[in-house]
Amino acid sequence: MSKKTHTRREFIKSSTAAAVGVGIGLPSMVVGRQQNASPNDKVVFGLIGCGGMGAANMRNFCTLPDVEVAAVCDVDSSRMPGDIKFVEDKFGRKPDVYSDYRKMLERKDIDAIIVGTPDHWHALNFIHACEAGKDVYQEKPISHNIVEAKAMIAAQKRFKVISQVGTWQRSDPEFTNSIAYVRSGKLGRVTHCRAWIADGTKIGKKQPIAVSSTFDYNTWIGPAKFVPYQENKTHWNWRWVLNTGGGLTTDWGVHMMDIALLGMSKSQDIVMPTEVTAHGGLWALDDDDRDAPDSIEAIYKFKDPDFMMTWSVLRDHPGKPGHCTEFVGADGRTVRCWRGGWSILDPDGKELPKEEFPKAHNGHWSNFIECVKSRAKPRATFGSVAQTTIVCHLSNAALFSGETVRWDKSKMDIVGKAGKDTSAYDREYRKPYVLPKY
Ligand SMILES: NC(=O)c1ccc[n+]([C@@H]2O[C@H](COP(=O)([O-])OP(=O)(O)OC[C@H]3O[C@@H](n4cnc5c(N)ncnc54)[C@H](O)[C@@H]3O)[C@@H](O)[C@H]2O)c1
Repeated sequence: MSKKTHTRREFIKSSTAAAVGVGIGLPSMVVGRQQNASPNDKVVFGLIGCGGMGAANMRNFCTLPDVEVAAVCDVDSSRMPGDIKFVEDKFGRKPDVYSDYRKMLERKDIDAIIVGTPDHWHALNFIHACEAGKDVYQEKPISHNIVEAKAMIAAQKRFKVISQVGTWQRSDPEFTNSIAYVRSGKLGRVTHCRAWIADGTKIGKKQPIAVSSTFDYNTWIGPAKFVPYQENKTHWNWRWVLNTGGGLTTDWGVHMMDIALLGMSKSQDIVMPTEVTAHGGLWALDDDDRDAPDSIEAIYKFKDPDFMMTWSVLRDHPGKPGHCTEFVGADGRTVRCWRGGWSILDPDGKELPKEEFPKAHNGHWSNFIECVKSRAKPRATFGSVAQTTIVCHLSNAALFSGETVRWDKSKMDIVGKAGKDTSAYDREYRKPYVLPKY
C-alpha cells in the first residue's frame, strides 16, 4: 500500500474516532471516509462477482491512476483466474481471494466495493458493504424487488456511503446531450416518452445436473428460492429467470427508461409515475427454460409534468435502433438516443440540426473516484437509480398481477394491494438470509 493511502487511513481513523467521541453515535464498524480527504489518495477496491460486468468495472477503474485492487471474491473459483491475473499484471501482486464477501468486507484497508453479482444478491451485498462503511460502485438494477430497494435506500442514508450505480449511459454524450436538449425546453412540451429493447435471447432447455466442484451453488442461489442446479440458469443467464432477475425490463429498462425519466426531471430526484399497466408474456420464444416474458408493452402515466411513457420488449423495431429512448414533442418533433448516437427528427423523420451541450469532464468510473474523495454526489446517485429501478419493478408488478399498479412518491410505496403480491414487489428470503431494514 502506498504511503499516501496509509496517511489517509490514519486521517479516517482519527476523524471517525473523534465523531464517536462527540456522541454522533456511528457504529464502531463504520469507517467511511470523511470530507477533506486528500485528493491524492488511492482508492482501494474489493470486487464481489468476477468474470462478468464486475470484472469489466474493475478493469475500467484500473485505467485510472489513483486506484488499487486489494481483493476479489466469487462463489465460483472458475470465474476468477482472469481477474486474478489482471490484477497481478497491473499491480505486480496477486489480489487476496475470497469466496465469502463478508470476510472481505471486514478488511479495513478496502475503501470501496464493486458489486457485480446477479440481481438477487445485490441487496445483501450492498447493505452489508454499507454496514462495513465501504463506498459502493453498485451494478444495476439496484435490487431484485421494490422492498429490497427501499431497504437499500435506508441503509445508504443511514451509513452515508457514496454510491454510484452502473447506469453509465448517464455519463455518455449521446444521452447527456439528449437529456440537456429536452430539459432546455427546445423540444417544447413533451407528451410521450418511448423506450424499447429488441431481443430474443434463448437459454435453451437443460436438465438439472451435478454442480461443478468449483461452484458453491448453494451460496450462489443465496436468498432466492432454492431450485435444483441447471447450468443454463446461472452465470449470465440468471437475468432471464425470475427467481434471480427481472427479465429485460430490469436488465435494459433500467438503462433506457432512466434516460427518459432524467430528461423529464429537473434533477436526479426523478419524476415517478402515478400508475402503470402492462401486457405481455412468454409468447415469442418456445422450447426454452426462461420464464421472464419476451414480449412486453407497459404504459406509465405521470402527473406534473403530464406525459406518458411506454416501455416495450419485442423482437424487432424496423428502421430504428434495437434499443432506444425517444422523447416526442407536442409539435411532432422527436429526440431519439441510443448507444452510439442521438438525433432530432422533424414530424416527417428528417434529421434536424443538433446542439452539443457541455460534456462532463470525466467518465462514469472516474466520477465515482472523485466523489469517493470529495464526498460529493456522483452522477448516478444510489437514490436516483433506485427510483428508476422501482419504475422497472412497477412494470413487472403490473404485468405479473394483471392489474393497474399505482405509486405514491411521497410514501415511496405502491398504493393499495394491486401489484404487491408479485415477485417484483417482495420476496421471502431463504433461511438463514435476512434483509436488514434500517
Ligand atoms: N451496467 C451495464 O452495462 C451492465 C452490463 C452487464 C451486466 N450488468 C450488471 O452486472 C451484474 C452482473 O451481471 P453479469 O452479467 O456480469 O453476471 P455474471 O453471472 O456473468 O457474473 C456474476 C458473478 O457473481 C458471482 N456471484 C454470485 N453470487 C455471489 C456472491 N454471493 N458472492 C460472490 N460472488 C457471487 C457469480 O458466481 C458470477 O461469477 C448484474 O447486476 C447485471 O445487471 C451491468
